Amino acid sequence: MDSIFILTGAGISAESGLGTFRDKDGLWTRYDLRRVATPEGFRADPALVHDFYNMRRRNCLEAAPNAAHEALARLQRQRPGGVTLVTQNVDDLHERAGSPEVIHMHGELLGALCAACGHRWRAPERMAPDDPCPACARSATRPDIVWFGEIPYRMDEILERLSRATLFAVIGSSGEVYPAAGFVEEAAARGIATIEINLEPGSRKDLFDRGLYGPASETVPRWVEGLLQA
Ligand code: APR
Repeated sequence: MDSIFILTGAGISAESGLGTFRDKDGLWTRYDLRRVATPEGFRADPALVHDFYNMRRRNCLEAAPNAAHEALARLQRQRPGGVTLVTQNVDDLHERAGSPEVIHMHGELLGALCAACGHRWRAPERMAPDDPCPACARSATRPDIVWFGEIPYRMDEILERLSRATLFAVIGSSGEVYPAAGFVEEAAARGIATIEINLEPGSRKDLFDRGLYGPASETVPRWVEGLLQA
């Protein structure tokens, strides 16, 4: 039986109404990522950064999983232990679709982190710079998000699981941001079969053995059905 490693990006949540980053009208065409998604930006203006993530958290809570999220949850349930789902996304739509395990390598909108003591807790809908940490009481609260220039979470575990995969799939990601963008090279170097599932062929399409193109809510259920029937 295949050991499937799946990496998802913003494209899988696009049809749930959560904008992507680099498409037309994407978040990074409307916000300066240096100001809202870097440790330096947070030090310079924590209120601005909290407002940005409060807005995204509100949108996330108002959104619902789509057929692509549901199909992956179905695959995980029908292949217990045979699927690793890693997401670059910070929304909780995979979990709300019923995915039993999701590795959030870039953090989670619904999480808060104390930059002073490292304590984590469930984020309130609205966060503010002077929110006290429930553990150390200091006002060093930040969204539990991995910003540009920071190291993604659970990388050792992610690479270990990738090394054991027999099939590697990327869904709804432009492949612009490392280290996630480098996983396909890692997989190809290990002779693991690779597939890109995206709205349209990405800039790194030639690195993949196969491509499946179209809206994720259509392509992913089809791809999953094929795997479950194989
Ligand atoms: N179905 C499938 N793919 C889609 C859809 C859709 N409905 N809509 C858009 N896409 C594709 C786009 O064609 C694009 O290739 O999703 C991709 C989204 O790319 P990005 O906006 O760059 O998002 P992502 O790759 O997840 O970004 C990676 O960058 O900004 C940082 O930390 C942030 O996790 C993020 C990382």
